[in-house]
Formats: sequence, C-alpha cells, structure tokens
Amino acid sequence: MSYKIAVIGGDGTGPEVAREGLKVLNAVASKFNFKYETHQLDIGGERYLKTKEILPDSVISDAKGADAIFLGAIGHPDVKPGILEKGILLKLRFELDQYINLRPVKLYPNVETPIKNKGPEEINYVVVRENTGGLYTGTGGFSMKGTPDEVAIQSMVYSRHQVERCLRYAFEYSIRWNKQEPNRGKKVTLCGKTNVLTYVFDLWERVFHEVGQADYGQIERDYAHVDATTMWMIKNPEWFDVIVTGNMFGDIITDLGAMTQGGMGIAAGGNINPDGVSMFEPIGGSAPKYTGKNVINPLAAIGAMAMLLNELGEVEAAKSIDQAISKVVSTKIKSLDAGKMGYSTEQVGDLICDQIVNS
Ligand code: IPM
Ligand code: MN
Repeated sequence: MSYKIAVIGGDGTGPEVAREGLKVLNAVASKFNFKYETHQLDIGGERYLKTKEILPDSVISDAKGADAIFLGAIGHPDVKPGILEKGILLKLRFELDQYINLRPVKLYPNVETPIKNKGPEEINYVVVRENTGGLYTGTGGFSMKGTPDEVAIQSMVYSRHQVERCLRYAFEYSIRWNKQEPNRGKKVTLCGKTNVLTYVFDLWERVFHEVGQADYGQIERDYAHVDATTMWMIKNPEWFDVIVTGNMFGDIITDLGAMTQGGMGIAAGGNINPDGVSMFEPIGGSAPKYTGKNVINPLAAIGAMAMLLNELGEVEAAKSIDQAISKVVSTKIKSLDAGKMGYSTEQVGDLICDQIVNS
C-alpha cells in the first residue's frame, strides 16, 4: 500500500517550506518502510492572478481522493486579503469537513520563549479548535450598505452536532495522549465566554459537561473564559493540557500560543476530519518578503508533516521527526526566526534528515 499525499505548495514561502517537509517525508519513508506518492495541486495566488480560478472543482475532487493533504501557505501580496484565504483555505476545510483544527503548543528544549521562568515542562498543551462553524460560516450580511445607517451582521453559528463532535474529539485526544504520556491528557479545559455569549457558549458548556460526565468521567473538566485563557497562557501555561474552543477564539489564542513556543517558525497544525481527508500546514502565513531567499524556517512545515504521518498511523515515523526537531533546535539552530537560524531553509531540512537517518 502506498499513501497518496496531495501537496499544495501555495504562495510565498509555502513551496520552499513544503519542499523541506517532503524531503523529511522521503527520509522517514525509507527508514520506516512505507511507500507514498505525491501529487502537486496547482492552486494559490499565481494561478488566481493568471486565470481567475481560485479552487476549481477538479482540484477539490483531487484533494478528496488523497489520503492526506500537505499545505505550504496561502496568501499573495497582489491579491486582496480574504479572496484566497476564504476561497482556498477555508473552502477546503469546509468542503472536506475538517472539523478539528489541532494545534499543539509545545516548547522544545533550548528554544527561547518570551515567557520568563517557563520551559518545556510548563509549555506543553494542545488546542483543539473547532474548524467549520462559528463566526467562520459567513452567516450574516449588510443592510442599507453605503448609507449612514448601514448595518453589518456576522453571526456565531453553532449546531449541537458541531459542538458535540468537537468536544468528543478533545476528550478522545486526551485519552490517546494519556496512553502515550501518563502525565498528559488528564484535563480538558473549555475556553469560552459564557458571561457574554450566553447562547453559543451555554450550548458548549452544557454539552461539555453532559458528554464529559457520561462518557469521559476519568478526565477532569475545567472552564476558562477566553480573555482569562490568554492571561493564563502567559502566567501559568502549565495549567493547560487540552484546551477545546470555538473557531474564532481558537484562531486567536493559537497565535498567542505559537509565540510562547518560539514563534511561527515552529508552529504546526492539522485540519482534521477523523473519518475523511485531513490537511496539515505550518500555521504561519506565506511571508512574502522572504520568498525565494532560502531563509524561512521550515520546521513548522516539518512538524506538520509529523502530524500528517501520525494521523495516517505512521506513529514511529512521526515520533522520529519530532525527536529530530527537538534535537536540531536544541543543539544546532541559533534562532527560530527567518534569516537568523544560522542555516538556510534547505540546510535545516538536511539537518533534520541527517538526524533521522543517524538515530
Ligand atoms: C489560520 C489563519 C486562517 C484562519 C485565515 C488565513 C483564514 O489565520 O489558519 O489560523 O483564520 O483560520
Ligand atoms: Mn490564524
């Protein structure tokens, strides 16, 4: 059997970091004896500027036929913000029903964090972000547009079904994590805003306790408002284990989380459909100013590849990538920021591959 991996290099530095991710895929495939084939999906700003096509149906069906999707970055400086993000990234998440956005916040050893007195012991949790609902559904509109009385509405829409499947994923994730690491995966924190968003987060909170009590009694349940969550992420990150939250809050807190783990250069994420095709990506953007300079940090993309393999069931390969990242960041790389790594993009990919081959 051979895994079919669809690759979207995309825009800016996307293709460069994706290339390093694929290099690492090649290294682990030989080491752990599995086969794969890749095919590139040509979408992104360049195609849009040339042809006005954003995400043709043929590309969606190609993506649906893959075992997993590996994405570099989407976002082009010559395209109005929103067109590609909504038309490609969000559309794929919705079309493939990737209802979970899994974003680990993990500080590797010897990596600098802006949080004083906190290290890898304290900064090690995951955010389970709901990925197909909430403010991202585009429900709303304008009325009296262009007049002084103009009104704009954008609604936070959640069905019980969406909330429940996301919460169950968070609990199930905890159980799996706990099996691998006995001191992790013991607590799920619901991050909401029950004091103001008294409909949507009332639903989340009720389902959280209902499902948690009925089916996951061994897991501790905790609750924090989103504003307080940002405070604790800085003050006491060790309080967190698995955080589960809605789409918009998850978007915001995971950028904060990424900064505490050393920045966008290392932050990886997965858009997951547990019963379908999932898509893995570095969570930073396309960094247009660094395009083609061979200076961008590919570790987030390489970490995304590890997550992809984990989802495909290649757990040992995923672990070996993670261990290689840990080793290389703690012994070789000077900084995780673009241009300051002490190595080029390609060299960082090579360091990871060497580490995998020689360990
Ligand atoms: C992310 C990004 C996207 C989001 C944008 C580009 C649509 O910020 O993956 O976090 O808001 O989800
Ligand atoms: Mn974001």
